Amino acid sequence: MPLEKLRRAMRAAAMAAGLAGLASLATVAGLRAEAPPASPAYVPTVSDLMIATIQPRHIRLWLAARSGNWAFSAYELGNLKGAFNRVSRAQPLVDGNSFADMNAAVMQQPIEALAQAIKQKDIAAFDRSYAELTAACNSCHQALNRAVVAIKVPQNASVADQEFAPGVD
Ligand code: HEC
Repeated sequence: MPLEKLRRAMRAAAMAAGLAGLASLATVAGLRAEAPPASPAYVPTVSDLMIATIQPRHIRLWLAARSGNWAFSAYELGNLKGAFNRVSRAQPLVDGNSFADMNAAVMQQPIEALAQAIKQKDIAAFDRSYAELTAACNSCHQALNRAVVAIKVPQNASVADQEFAPGVD
């Protein structure tokens, strides 16, 4: 695109943005910049999914149990399990290894133990199983040459805008 044409298009786009309220006028005047062609869907990587869907639930599960909110702990454990299943479907292979198989191998046991501890509202059992869960995160990271990603049991985690203490229900 020649420079002058590009400048004109940029001016038109700036005008269209500045005149949001008068968008129809801009259209009539032919000043509105055309929308770029739709890009292919954004495909999140395993790393994106870990940060967005796994890590926060690992923290939230701990926060809930430490706050004595067993109902929310059970809910969040279910969500963590579901999130792992979705990662397996979105990114079935990591360097040629089946994410689902590796996940089942390390996660099944601690998740079951956590479900049991939550059901029994047993904080000591929860803490033991949560440490196992956290070790399981790291065993997958190590097995897949991502030992640099080291997960630990939270210490003073907080989520600023959510009440974790059990409500009256
Ligand atoms: C089945 C294997 C597997 C399990 C289980 C697993 N992870 Fe991961 N995780 C990965 C892989 C692979 C990466 C690196 C992805 C990459 O480099 O693109 C990763 C990366 C991460 C990252 C780093 C993201 C970044 O870019 O900074 C975090 C945080 C993370 N995992 C959290 C967790 C937590 C918390 C758990 C346990 C509740 C867990 N992971 C369990 C495979 C796993």
